[in-house]
Amino acid sequence: MRVVIEKGENEVAIRAARFVADLVRRKPACVLGLATGGTPLGMYRELIRLHREEGLDFSRVTTFNLDEYVGVPEDHPQSYRYFMQENLFKHLNVVPAKTHVPDGRSLDFEASCRRYEQMIQEAGGIDLQVLGVGRDGHIAFNEPGSSLGSRTRVKSLTGETIRDNARFFGSEDQVPRLAITMGVGTILESQRCLLLATGAAKASAIRSTIEGPITAQITASALQLHRDVIVVLDEEAGSWLTRREYYAEVERAQTLLEAGQLHELGIGNP
Ligand code: PGA
Repeated sequence: MRVVIEKGENEVAIRAARFVADLVRRKPACVLGLATGGTPLGMYRELIRLHREEGLDFSRVTTFNLDEYVGVPEDHPQSYRYFMQENLFKHLNVVPAKTHVPDGRSLDFEASCRRYEQMIQEAGGIDLQVLGVGRDGHIAFNEPGSSLGSRTRVKSLTGETIRDNARFFGSEDQVPRLAITMGVGTILESQRCLLLATGAAKASAIRSTIEGPITAQITASALQLHRDVIVVLDEEAGSWLTRREYYAEVERAQTLLEAGQLHELGIGNP
């Protein structure tokens, strides 16, 4: 895992957007896996800025979102489809038919989940999957206890997630109890994962994710099995990590390598 610790939320947003933008420039017809929630909002704002001011072109990009509430219509202000429209898609030149969010209204869950997995396959798989993490260590709606091999399916939300999400719905009663979510196994098949976390409330989950044992109780910890994960944190979210100095050293070396400044690493001639 590559662990990048930035000062605050803004720096996380800019750094994370750079990873996405680099991919879109290198592979214009790439497949992005996207997430909702408070965490990626800053990154989405930066991508919109890059589109407007630097012409970052999303016209060939395909997107797949991680999850959607069951029973919430697409045009409901709390649906994840609506969230993506308002916070990202309508501000970019992305083709609407190339944007995918699981169908929370389908009554044939099994078929619609299977179809979602199939569409990801048909698109060539996800090149880069953006992820947040819940305070209980979940990725997407893979709550504690989810199989680490799970595929897209219906999940019941935990009380903690319902309480965390009540802020968007006005009260806990209004938060749906079920969601359709990509599975941990689905997420692990992405070519690259980009996990973002900000704020002290995430410090414990981040420590477990990066430095704890791999366990279905912290589904984000399954990312330790993935060959290409970048975690971008602010200082608060990274504050419980015990190997912060080492991560900073690795990051310094990585930056110098990418810039070709090998002599700074004691390799080659100055
Ligand atoms: P948040 O949610 O970005 O709103 O904190 C993250 C998550 O629950 O996955």
